[in-house]
Amino acid sequence: MLTKTLFDFRPVAESRITAMNLKELPFGSVFSDHQFRMVYSDGKWQQGVIEPFGDMMLSPAAMGLHYGQAIFEGMKAFRQPDGEVALFRPMENIRRFNKSAERMSMPLMDEGLFLSALTELIKIDKNWTPDGEGSSLYIRPFMFASEPHVGVRPSEEYRFVIFTCPVGPYYKGNVRVKVETFFTRAAPGGTGYAKAAGNYAASLKPTAMARDEGYDQILWTDAVEHKFIEESGTMNVVFVLDGKLVSPATGDTVLSGVTRDSVLRLAAYQGIEIEERKVAVSELKAGAASGALTEAFGVGTAATMTPIEAIGFPGGDVALPPVEQWQIMPVLSKLLDDLRRGKGEDPFGWRVVI
Ligand code: COI
Repeated sequence: MLTKTLFDFRPVAESRITAMNLKELPFGSVFSDHQFRMVYSDGKWQQGVIEPFGDMMLSPAAMGLHYGQAIFEGMKAFRQPDGEVALFRPMENIRRFNKSAERMSMPLMDEGLFLSALTELIKIDKNWTPDGEGSSLYIRPFMFASEPHVGVRPSEEYRFVIFTCPVGPYYKGNVRVKVETFFTRAAPGGTGYAKAAGNYAASLKPTAMARDEGYDQILWTDAVEHKFIEESGTMNVVFVLDGKLVSPATGDTVLSGVTRDSVLRLAAYQGIEIEERKVAVSELKAGAASGALTEAFGVGTAATMTPIEAIGFPGGDVALPPVEQWQIMPVLSKLLDDLRRGKGEDPFGWRVVI
């Protein structure tokens, strides 16, 4: 039951779910009945409310719209075989949210309160969690500066909101990625490790240019020399090189992905050697030519695990071996999927049943 003392509750008069087809879901355009909303003002978070999902009133002078104080997270909940719903490693996202908030000079969230808000919202809209293959309940917590003020300084008012969407796969199939050696996603000392809205805005133009050239996504390289792979537009990346799982090390300029970490830890648990380190573009190119590079895939909450079938290097595209021949990613993908859906072993205690 809802903890009434913690949050106010204004339920919808009538659920929209009866009109929904949760079997064939797009990504990100179907929204569950309710949202959680909480305002930061007078130096503290005010009473939160669970209310019908819907538009918000906002001043045109809301600072977040002008100076980009806006951060978000992506999480998922999964239907379990007994009908229950489980979150996947929610505390990782909550902690990362606070790291982003700290970087963007925004107020931190109490971790326990965040988890309670999330849990209560999902309990109320539990029926919106689909159970089809590849589907889940995507959760979008975000915070933005809402104080009406013109002038560059941290806002004194913020809104924290969580809404949820039943979703199907983000990518419908394999992707082709272009190694980006002109534009930059993140520089040392910048905001690359934060899930800041502006990081994604800056990626849109280079991604559109890559699309025009026939790619689905870009592979960002480092800002200094454009010689080392960092991450892809909507996900981290992992390569299978000489039978080892190799992923660019996270840090200042690479988002510390929860799915990335989960895949690497599951692989290590399976006895697969993993390396988190700098990955040179030249090393990948040589690996593709020699056959040492056998698999490449994106890893992210939205993307889950997405095979990369071809890489566009400066100087030419290289196709990877056909995905049907891959030995490692399909195994890890099944392990992760089964774990999240309560069908397999959970050796790390990552599943949090609501
Ligand atoms: C996620 O994987 O959840 C993300 O936030 C990526 C987003 C760009 C869809």
